[in-house]
Amino acid sequence: MVTPQITKPQINQYYSPRLFFLPNSRSAYKLERTQLLYQSYYLRKNRGLTSIRCIAGEMKGARVQGTPKPTESTKLKAILTVRASTVERFLDNLSPTQVLDNLQDLLGRSLLLELISSEVDTGSEKKTISAYAQKVSQDGQETKYESTFTVPNNFGEIGGVFVTNVYHNEIFLQDLILQNDKTGAAAATISCNSWIQPKSVSPDKRVFFTTKSYLPDQTPSGLKSLRKHELELKRGNGKGERKSTDRIYDYDTYNDLGDPDSGDRARPVLGGTKVFPYPRRCRTGRPQSKKDPKSETRSSTFYVPRDEDFSKVKQLQFSTTALTSLLHAALPSAQNVVIDTKSGFPNFNEITVLYNEGFQIPKVDGIGFFQTLIPRISDAIQDVSDKVLRFDVPEMLERDRFSWLRDEEFARQTLAGINPYAIQLVKELPMKSKLDPAIYGTAESAITTDIIEKEINGIMTAEEAVHQKKLFVVDYHDLLLPYVHKVRALEGTTLYGSRSLFFLTDEGILKPIAIELTRPPSPTTPEWRHVFVPSSDSTGSWLWKLAKAQVCAHDSGHHELISHWLRTHCSVEPYIIATHRQLSEMHPIYRLLHPHFRYTMKINALARQALISARGIIESSFSPLKYSMELSSVAYDQTWRFDLEALPADLIRRGMAVKDPAAEHGLKLVIDDYPFANDGLLIWSAIKNWVQEYISHYYPDSAQIKSDTELQAWWHEVRTRGHADKKDEPWWPILDTQESLTQTLTTIIWVASAHHAAVNFGQYDYAGFFPNRPTIARINMPTEDMTTDQLKNFLQKPEDTLLDSFPTQIQATVVMAVLNLLSTHSSDEEYLGGQAAGLTWLNDPVMKAAYDRFYTRLKEIEYKIDARNLDPKFRNRSGAGLVPYKLMKPFSDAGVTGMGIPNSISI
Ligand SMILES: [Fe+2]
Repeated sequence: MVTPQITKPQINQYYSPRLFFLPNSRSAYKLERTQLLYQSYYLRKNRGLTSIRCIAGEMKGARVQGTPKPTESTKLKAILTVRASTVERFLDNLSPTQVLDNLQDLLGRSLLLELISSEVDTGSEKKTISAYAQKVSQDGQETKYESTFTVPNNFGEIGGVFVTNVYHNEIFLQDLILQNDKTGAAAATISCNSWIQPKSVSPDKRVFFTTKSYLPDQTPSGLKSLRKHELELKRGNGKGERKSTDRIYDYDTYNDLGDPDSGDRARPVLGGTKVFPYPRRCRTGRPQSKKDPKSETRSSTFYVPRDEDFSKVKQLQFSTTALTSLLHAALPSAQNVVIDTKSGFPNFNEITVLYNEGFQIPKVDGIGFFQTLIPRISDAIQDVSDKVLRFDVPEMLERDRFSWLRDEEFARQTLAGINPYAIQLVKELPMKSKLDPAIYGTAESAITTDIIEKEINGIMTAEEAVHQKKLFVVDYHDLLLPYVHKVRALEGTTLYGSRSLFFLTDEGILKPIAIELTRPPSPTTPEWRHVFVPSSDSTGSWLWKLAKAQVCAHDSGHHELISHWLRTHCSVEPYIIATHRQLSEMHPIYRLLHPHFRYTMKINALARQALISARGIIESSFSPLKYSMELSSVAYDQTWRFDLEALPADLIRRGMAVKDPAAEHGLKLVIDDYPFANDGLLIWSAIKNWVQEYISHYYPDSAQIKSDTELQAWWHEVRTRGHADKKDEPWWPILDTQESLTQTLTTIIWVASAHHAAVNFGQYDYAGFFPNRPTIARINMPTEDMTTDQLKNFLQKPEDTLLDSFPTQIQATVVMAVLNLLSTHSSDEEYLGGQAAGLTWLNDPVMKAAYDRFYTRLKEIEYKIDARNLDPKFRNRSGAGLVPYKLMKPFSDAGVTGMGIPNSISI
């Protein structure tokens, strides 16, 4: 211990730091023992005081003697950026509270800042240094505030800042930069990107930490309790209804899709039961339904934590109101008033008219419902004059009006379309069902080796085809069969179990060779199943077209409900909730993941409101109708595994790749030209390399991963609360090594970015022309019941049968509008590897260099994909009239572009 070499002045021989209050002042000073002598003199001299009064009992009455040197201090300037859109500001200026806030600005007391030291004085936090920030300028959407602080040099490193919003309105604080007032040198950067409620709404001071990341056991002592307290605030107490201003993250089951108190809208709760396991969603705490206490009542808005909401820019482009109204107002009115809601398109001309001359809109009470609603939700509608609605021409139709009719295009889309997650290798023949044959009928597929050999013109035996990995299947047999009779009991739809078989030719393209449709037995009907094959005779050729329409509807449902909703939107929400509840905002893993969660909770809440809810757009337009969401629960139960959500593992599971240490990415694809897999693996590897560098930077030793209490609590909560219905599964990774942590985080980032992009942004290009991907098949195959008029009608005019099978006019046009909306990048989209707001690691030179490498790699991938699309040897992505495979191109402009990988699931 160093003893001060000062005999005069001296207070006494007590060396511990103590808290001092100046007489007649509220200011407090904590003094280190070696500075005590100087400090006390300094205070006395500069404040004209003769003594200081010490609060601590031992020090009471101490008197200053002598003439010490004054302690130095530094003047810091804080520059705050507060963001608001022009629209927001315009609206706010009209509000009475804004008038009060303007007054607050004049008084210079609108935002109170308090600097927080990273250090402590004998176990307790140092006193903060506070100052009001003054508004200094306003430029478009940004308003700048400034304040200055005199910071004693013994204050220690600044660890964060408290911000109190004294305004009457919430503000969005983007960032806060502290710099030396004299030299301009940066002292600390604080990336906030958060809404701060007025003190009157939320009395808790908001804390923001600097951009320095700390593992829990490295937390500076002055920030430890703040770190803990902040997480407790975000976890909440699990009680009461959430307000829109809250920032509480908690779990609940999907118990708000139905509305038991309203007509026939009761739906089972998804999640929390063995029958319907499901991931969890964000808890809103709305009141229970009267008829079913397990269900939550619905409301006009669904809570998400305040910072999860859309920005104004995003909101304008999305138009929440319009999407909600599309279902709640437009659809019911349309269904009642539009000429005939059950009518399909009378001929193919009427379909193409949607994109050319436009669509004649029936009127509802003098106002066309499309006219009032759809223009607000979608740029697709270019011309909404008095009665006309016109859609953009989807890229597929633009390039080739007839490609949807070609078998090879039907097959190609399993590899390069919007549902590349369904196709799998046939590993044995006959293909077999895992369902109970006593209930569901014959287990063995009706696609026999004879049929296969005939369809491949005997160039090899069926067994050889299996052995040489030439046979592939899109198999919706076991998933759909248990629902066939339930769905058939509903009006305006039908369902089969289906298997579509493909043969890989020597040219490397797939040829569909058979479609098997099955109706299982019921107490009143026998099993019916039939294998359809491509045919050159007229009847056979039309039946083949009709069978393709049936399986396209199955694939549309699988795509939207499972590949898209369940595996990305729905499964990611628990990761977001757990991250906010268990990882401090100063945790490096929080900072790595946070950009990948932008807008996801909000878009999911909107989906619960209008898309996946009882009688929502999905239930109104997809084959399983009101059983749609149940089916996604069945798929979660049977197929979802965290470890297999990683792209390489998913490809191996489906038999589409085998491990090969010598091959790029350690995998050999079974189909060389599988555009989604080829491009996806480039993206997967780029993400993994970046995550690997990040992890080794923050966790140089695996032991730190095991001892990271927040990280372990986070992962425990993902497993046991977010995906609670699968908590006991043995396949959950254990986070105990750099490798397992890298793999886990890469999987989460992959799902939130590239997996979602692959199944999302091509929706309008491929399904905007609905004959290519009808969402529903409304009638049975005409040969199923040979005694009905259906067969007679089919033989007379088969085109009508196909049109009757397609969605109705209302179903088709509503889905087209929604798919256009969902395929759109907003102008504030943040892309993978882009310089998004709040990427705090950019302040760390090592991490910045690693992130720059990630970005460079993504740019290289972009060029590589362009080159692949121009190379005629890749026949599944390059050729006359084909839509090139661009969905894994990382960057994009705003709008419907069919490319671009946003950081997060934002639409
Ligand atoms: Fe999406």
